[in-house]
Amino acid sequence: MKHLDQSPLDPEFVQDPYPFYDIAREQGPLFYWNDYDFPCAAGFSTVNDLLRDRRFGREMPDDLKPEIPDHLAAFYALEQHSLLELEPPKHTRIRSLLVRTFTSRRINDLGPEIDQISRRLCNNLSDQPFDIITEYAEHIPVIIICRMLGVPEEMGPQLLRWSHDMVAMYQARRDREIEDRAVAATLAFSDYMQQLLLERQKSPGEDLISHLITARSQGEKLSEQELITTCILLLNAGHEATVHSISNGIKTILESGQTPTSFFTDDKSTLRCIDETIRFDPPLHMFTRIALQDMQVFGHDFKRGDSVGLMLAAANRDPQRYENPANFDVSRGGVGQLGFGAGLHFCIGAPLARLEMGIALPILFEHFPNLEIVEKPVYANRYHFHGLEKLMVTSG
Ligand code: HEM
Repeated sequence: MKHLDQSPLDPEFVQDPYPFYDIAREQGPLFYWNDYDFPCAAGFSTVNDLLRDRRFGREMPDDLKPEIPDHLAAFYALEQHSLLELEPPKHTRIRSLLVRTFTSRRINDLGPEIDQISRRLCNNLSDQPFDIITEYAEHIPVIIICRMLGVPEEMGPQLLRWSHDMVAMYQARRDREIEDRAVAATLAFSDYMQQLLLERQKSPGEDLISHLITARSQGEKLSEQELITTCILLLNAGHEATVHSISNGIKTILESGQTPTSFFTDDKSTLRCIDETIRFDPPLHMFTRIALQDMQVFGHDFKRGDSVGLMLAAANRDPQRYENPANFDVSRGGVGQLGFGAGLHFCIGAPLARLEMGIALPILFEHFPNLEIVEKPVYANRYHFHGLEKLMVTSG
């Protein structure tokens, strides 16, 4: 297997990781990413296969689990119940409970609210240069996930802070300060959720938390800790990736040089545009899996407990799968793109994210047909996340 060096902290790579992905794909099904010290897959069919290969999972076998340092105990005590980190049967139990409460009717009912929030935000945008992330993209997913779960909307800014501090644990740049902030956020967020669960237990509403509590009291096995972790995961996952998908999407559309409103002429073309923006520049570039047994895969000997990196964004630019992959081409509609993952852990929130983007983007461009980028967009140094630090625009 070929070895490649590429620091995930290198500013040039952070701004444009795609040239490295092109090199990585040329090495065959797997290459060894020295900086991470594990093999990775960058081609579409390999990444797709490995995401669905049940011989790989998310959970490290018990006997190989590394010792957790004391100062991180609270963070991992919460994380160990996260769907993202689990294997069947626990994963199946929690995921199926969630799928039953996360219904398409409940999601589609949010359409008019997303529409209303987007229009209200557009009406308040400045005619001076402004950051479209903090003024627009950030608000919609946070307000909507709060409403869906039944968390008071005024908690939005606080949730954003806790969430940013917690997900920072998954970026390549991690130090003691980041870890301490993540633990403090975990403790505060858990305390808050515990109080909210007590309130909802006393007076349930129509929100998702109340439904999860009801399902639990009707005999579904979900411990209080699992319930808290699941709500926190939904609140965090429910906005982090969507905010960056909206802003990466705005950038892609504005840089395409085409008339933005032409991408949104009907529901079908809107959906095609959304998936193509996620194929072209997704917000989450890599997830890992762990070998659950000793085996040879794509010519490599994996030992039980070994990691493999699955590079979703590199797969989405594979020329064997997509013609001229570096072109943003809505006519292909991003078909089969892996930005939402695949297999067991496929994103539960994909229909909600598509709905939010499919309403927020056309409304924005309808209001501001002359929207223009006025400063070179800069991606934040937070690999494997791929989101902009800010996106300065004028409404034209
Ligand atoms: C455009 C926005 C989004 C993107 C690009 C995205 C991407 C992803 C990806 C790639 C995974 C799979 C991770 C893996 O295979 O290890 C995932 C899982 C997940 N996502 Fe999303 N997501 C988005 C929005 C959302 C939203 C809005 C929610 C919730 C309301 C959500 C909730 C989840 C959950 C709970 C999982 C874990 C599923 C499991 O492990 O079974 N996501 N997402």
